[in-house]
Amino acid sequence: MSNDTNRRDFLGYSFAAVAAVGGAASLVGMKKVWDPLPSVLAGGFTTIDLAPLKAGEPETFTWRGKPIFVLKKTADMEGSERDLIIGDDRYTVAIGLCTHLGCIPAWKKDKWKCACHGGEFNPSAKQVFGPPPRPLDVPPFEVQGTTIVLGNEGPESKKIAAFVATQA
Ligand code: FES
Repeated sequence: MSNDTNRRDFLGYSFAAVAAVGGAASLVGMKKVWDPLPSVLAGGFTTIDLAPLKAGEPETFTWRGKPIFVLKKTADMEGSERDLIIGDDRYTVAIGLCTHLGCIPAWKKDKWKCACHGGEFNPSAKQVFGPPPRPLDVPPFEVQGTTIVLGNEGPESKKIAAFVATQA
């Protein structure tokens, strides 16, 4: 083997090594650009502590720009297969957008009423009056103790969503 050949081989390997390192660095850089920012990732999940909620007084939270209704039911509110049961408490968790044309219903005394066309939803988020064609939708959530994490679909929200799908 001649010195020329060895030198050519060496240069070839050197260029290949530099190209491989450069390529890997470029890929790492591109991944950093493509990956969502931490603030965007955090925005995909919303944790709600259910413990402080007062029975009969629904709260509205925000998840991915949508209103989320969470109602801790009172003892005299009718039970539903839609109830999220944690300990002795029953909750309704729903996306707060009317299933007619997307207005945000407001809680009035004992039901959510939609000001746009008069639709009404009972404490189990089922449509009971007006044009809404189905109950309020169920957001994906996961139960962790007395908190729910919106954005993570757990078995409870899957089961509730399957039930609600039968009510359309
Ligand atoms: S948008 Fe709610 S009843 Fe029409």
